[in-house]
Amino acid sequence: MAVSQIISDFTPIIMLYLLLHSTFISAVNITHLLSPYPDLSDFSDLLSTTTVVADLTQRTSLTLLAVPNSFLRTSELIRRSPSSTNIADVIRYHVLLQYLSLHDLRRLPPSDKLITTLFQTTGRATNNFGLVNVTYDDKTDTTIVRSPAAYSQAPSNATVISLINNLPYNVSIYSVNSLIVPYGFNLLSSESRPPLGLNISKALIDGHNFNVAASMLAASGVVQEFESDEGGAGITLFVPTDDAFSDLPASANF
Ligand SMILES: *[C@@H]1O[C@H](CO)[C@@H](O)[C@H](O)[C@H]1NC(C)=O
Ligand SMILES: *[C@@H]1O[C@H](CO)[C@@H](O)[C@H](O)[C@H]1NC(C)=O
Ligand SMILES: *[C@@H]1O[C@H](CO)[C@@H](O)[C@H](O)[C@H]1NC(C)=O
Ligand SMILES: *[C@@H]1O[C@H](CO)[C@@H](O)[C@H](O)[C@H]1NC(C)=O
Ligand SMILES: *[C@@H]1O[C@H](CO)[C@@H](O)[C@H](O)[C@H]1NC(C)=O
Repeated sequence: MAVSQIISDFTPIIMLYLLLHSTFISAVNITHLLSPYPDLSDFSDLLSTTTVVADLTQRTSLTLLAVPNSFLRTSELIRRSPSSTNIADVIRYHVLLQYLSLHDLRRLPPSDKLITTLFQTTGRATNNFGLVNVTYDDKTDTTIVRSPAAYSQAPSNATVISLINNLPYNVSIYSVNSLIVPYGFNLLSSESRPPLGLNISKALIDGHNFNVAASMLAASGVVQEFESDEGGAGITLFVPTDDAFSDLPASANF
């Protein structure tokens, strides 16, 4: 079968589905990378219960700052609201979207290195407070991670303890001595915030040129699957316009 034949056999909707699902292949399993370290079990459980771990399988260049049980269990934040869904955003703040080896850490400038975290990508961070300020002090050989907020206002900071595990250029995992809270993040007040209420059908219909895709997505049930997969982390869809469907033969069956 010629390649062109194969391609024309794919309907746009199958293409869309494959495009999204192919990103899950060659996944990094963070739970597996953390499993040899009993001292990181609570943090690993938090990654799973908040579903943040599912966001990470699709990424190839990141640094995870894991908080050991002893530090996590004394954290005021976790003790006051152990089951809060907003813990997920605090956990996302510990996922730096850049691979940092030990060598990279030691070459950081002493004053300034701002790194984007997964929390920034949710759109829920105020301004650039979804970034972390990572500094390395060569005199004491310490790396400190904190909010880029003014020194006196930074809600917390963490010192890197050690490298736990790494898959070069994809993932490195460090232990840190504290949970890091984003600036302006009020866990208790945000607890009552309603969920984002992602409605993909509505977003497509409001986009005016995606009516065919919207009705097909709804009819196939795929739309619910995408909405529940989104898990508060944001989602990107590539959707064919109505015009793209009009070029298909009338006999095409979706
Ligand atoms: C990830 O690793 C954990 C622990 O080794 C295992 O239980 C789980 O099934 C793995 N997940 C996937 C998607 O392979
Ligand atoms: C980052 O932290 C360093 C050291 O605390 C500080 O000198 C610098 O101003 C901070 N940069 C930003 C953008 O917050
Ligand atoms: C880190 O936090 C501790 C405790 O809040 C504080 O005493 C210390 O000055 C902070 N250090 C930095 C570099 O922000
Ligand atoms: C790192 O990511 C690349 C690109 O997704 C993948 O091909 C490779 O297998 C990954 N390496 C490891 C060790 O996971
Ligand atoms: C999503 O939006 C569509 C179109 O406005 C509407 O028909 C549907 O009921 C909405 N779904 C939910 C779960 O609100």
